[in-house]
Amino acid sequence: MKTNSTGHQPGPVKNSHLTNDAPTSEAVESLSTVSLRCTECAALYPGIEGGASPRYRCDCGGVLDVEMQFNLPRTQTAPFDIYANFDVDSDLLPAAGAKLRQIFDERASTPPIWSTSADKLLLDHSGVWRYRELILPAPEQFIISRPEGNTILYPVGMENCGPGRVGHRQIGVYAGLERLFLKHEGENPTGSFKDRGMTVGVTMAQLLGARAVACASTGNTSASLASYAAQAGMRGIVFLPAGNVAGGKLAQTLAYGATTIQINGDFDDAMQLVERVCGELGIYLLNSLNPFRVEGQKAIGFEILQQLDWQAPDWLVLPAGNLGNTSAIGKAFRQAYELSLISHMPRFASIQAEGANPFYRSFKQGFASREHVQAHTVASAIKIGNPVSYTRARRVIEESDGIVEEVSDEEILAAKNIIDRSGIGCEPASAATVAGIRKLVERGIIKRDERVVGILTGNLLKDSLTGIPQGSDSVVVEANIDAVRKALLK
Ligand code: F0G
Repeated sequence: MKTNSTGHQPGPVKNSHLTNDAPTSEAVESLSTVSLRCTECAALYPGIEGGASPRYRCDCGGVLDVEMQFNLPRTQTAPFDIYANFDVDSDLLPAAGAKLRQIFDERASTPPIWSTSADKLLLDHSGVWRYRELILPAPEQFIISRPEGNTILYPVGMENCGPGRVGHRQIGVYAGLERLFLKHEGENPTGSFKDRGMTVGVTMAQLLGARAVACASTGNTSASLASYAAQAGMRGIVFLPAGNVAGGKLAQTLAYGATTIQINGDFDDAMQLVERVCGELGIYLLNSLNPFRVEGQKAIGFEILQQLDWQAPDWLVLPAGNLGNTSAIGKAFRQAYELSLISHMPRFASIQAEGANPFYRSFKQGFASREHVQAHTVASAIKIGNPVSYTRARRVIEESDGIVEEVSDEEILAAKNIIDRSGIGCEPASAATVAGIRKLVERGIIKRDERVVGILTGNLLKDSLTGIPQGSDSVVVEANIDAVRKALLK
């Protein structure tokens, strides 16, 4: 959407319950090394503009990307703090990269101390703030963290699964891969990957003095926003497509106490409205249009690399809706490569549902045009027809020699059945990952011996009813031993 009407308005309607206070000088100072770059026209803005309302878009309407000068650690070969941005080609980067790996590994091996709050050790235990040098230079006292991350990377390939894991191995057999890992982001505090972006988004809201935060959502972002806003003592406001949000996600959002506005329309309508109302009323917008959310989601990539001992996989495969996650994980791998944390970039495969496939359609035309669709799919989380992060995600696919694939609802549900029956389980949108991998292996694009990481984005309990096979193994019997015996021996 090319519009300038909502992205950056210097004078919202003031409302003391909703509008930000001015950011403190400490907040402004802490973000002095952070800028925002337009992904369309390359215009550059400061990360935080004292006195003005937050900026989510360029004046040209393009979405923004955070650019940071990294304060890299001291090393023996680099005795001074060196600042690197990606225009600087420095011989010192390999040493600084090794040092960063060491710092991150030390933090990961430190047990958390729960008796002290807001302690550095708690931040070290967060699978986002552990990588804080590459995420956001926020002063500790502003950080709102559960903490999040530290999700399991399940080895499920035919070869790397290991003996005894008969159930998990079924996924590798189904996908046709020897070395497959599934990163289960449904193991985050509110049950989806959204918590990683949200901890950074709500921390930015704190830095800006926000009283209220808002998003449009297919359900997971809203649950995450509601939880983190409650923790920060802010008002959470969410816009949902009425009748199109899975029960578990709606229940979470309401329970955490967010003001919930259900729109008679789809996600894309809700997205346009929330952007507009946030601009008008000065509410802090926390969709992935907000570039700081993307910075937090990058941590999925860093945590995968750390779990693989900093050996990048050959492929990274994930479901794609609004395209925030493709943008974020792609950026993480690019930065890890440019900072010499890893020696090669994986190829990216973004998987869309056939009925919600605008990114796939654009990809098929060599990205000659940006497509929109009226979205339909059983995977309500990715029922999105006009993805906001199109330009950011397109860059990831192009730079990584990646691919966009589509899968039918039947393929999504078949893959979900395999993942559920393996004992791991996930929500329908997440299963698009495994359905997509299987298709790409069958087409010979992913080779059977390549090392592949797939992302499972949400927990099984989020959408517990969709895709449960007819005639599942559940019977009601009388409360006597004869009836029970009969049911079991049938
Ligand atoms: N998987 C799940 C479970 C999701 O909730 C989402 C997005 C995606 C995949 C797609 O990620 O949008 O970054 O490409 N959910 C958003 C929401 C739209 O509002 O919860 P994406």
